[in-house]
Amino acid sequence: MSDWAKKGFATRAIHAGQEPDAQTGAVNVPIYLTSTYAQEEIGKHKGWDYSRAGNPTRDALETSLAALEGGRSAHVFGSGMAAITGLITMMRTGDHVICGENVYGGTTRMFNQVATGYGIEFTYVDTSDVEAVRKAIQPATKLVHIETPTNPLMTLTDIRAVADICHEHGVELSVDNTFMSPYFQRPIEFGADIVMHSTTKFLNGHSDGLGGVLVGTKPEHKEKFAFVQKCTGGILSPFECYLILRGVKTLAVRMKQHDENGRKVAELLARHPKVLRVHYPGLEAHPQHELAQRQMSGFGSMLAFDVGSLEHANDMLKRVRVCTLGESLGGVETLISHPATMTHAAIGAEMRAKLGITDGLVRISVGIEDVGDILGDLEQAMEWMGR
Ligand SMILES: Cc1ncc(COP(=O)(O)O)c(C=O)c1O
Repeated sequence: MSDWAKKGFATRAIHAGQEPDAQTGAVNVPIYLTSTYAQEEIGKHKGWDYSRAGNPTRDALETSLAALEGGRSAHVFGSGMAAITGLITMMRTGDHVICGENVYGGTTRMFNQVATGYGIEFTYVDTSDVEAVRKAIQPATKLVHIETPTNPLMTLTDIRAVADICHEHGVELSVDNTFMSPYFQRPIEFGADIVMHSTTKFLNGHSDGLGGVLVGTKPEHKEKFAFVQKCTGGILSPFECYLILRGVKTLAVRMKQHDENGRKVAELLARHPKVLRVHYPGLEAHPQHELAQRQMSGFGSMLAFDVGSLEHANDMLKRVRVCTLGESLGGVETLISHPATMTHAAIGAEMRAKLGITDGLVRISVGIEDVGDILGDLEQAMEWMGR
């Protein structure tokens, strides 16, 4: 096997874990649709005995994702939430977890409504304030879990600063890297112990399948996450592993285009008279623009902007034609959404107000269509605001 770790990102994305099939020479990893494997004699098989424990298509994807994040191992799950659940199974009753206060709503729902039932405690802090993280550490703290940038306000956390605090206290840091993908941000290079993704988003990139991954840096991560896959069974099907393998091959070119289009959309919105505020780390006006330049190699295509009221938001959202009004992100198509009534409805008005998620906030996952068409669509839709 070639040493792909020394090669460039796009080369790794195309080749790591995806070598031609040894038996047939097929250049694509086959979809191994099998639940079980023939064994030669008792205890003698070719490395796979049952597909919940292991499957060659899944192995290929896990090799690929570990190589892209620069981790020691990767384990994929049936969705991003299944991956987060796998992460939390590392905790024991009485353990304490610090979590970013503005992480994906499904993550806090699982923590608050499932994991607390098993005696795991959670404290939510604004992790963009690294001292707040230090203050929240208790003797029982085992894990700090962050998202950077956050959804939808694009607030950053200094990964290296938080990793240093964690390691001073023997605590592990996990980073949900879904918004940036390893193309633009590799948290392990800044000291993170575990990287998590909803592969449903940029890694797959085509909005045609769910998935999640935990990338580990230590031998015990490899052992524990493989054990969780086998014990809990929340694994990814070979077909969906194949879809992500296929998506990952174009990750580098897709991300470059997402970034180019994202910047242009942010610039248009920043100078639009009906837009009150744009949240995009690529704009110099973003309060953490300097940190963004330090820990990300691009700014991506996630951004949010405030049009002043729910009425204005709806005026434009019902008139978009190139952009699609819908949840999710990270696909080749531009997806536009209204956080207050969609992704962040469940957290309640009080929490939304605390976080700064106004009724006039609109989020865009800028796709890779011709950027002129995206810009034109937004401009024509915004003309209807307040008419
Ligand atoms: C940042 C982030 N993490 C995790 C998840 C959960 O992933 P999934 O929907 O694949 O379960 C999402 C879903 O939107 C997300 O945006």
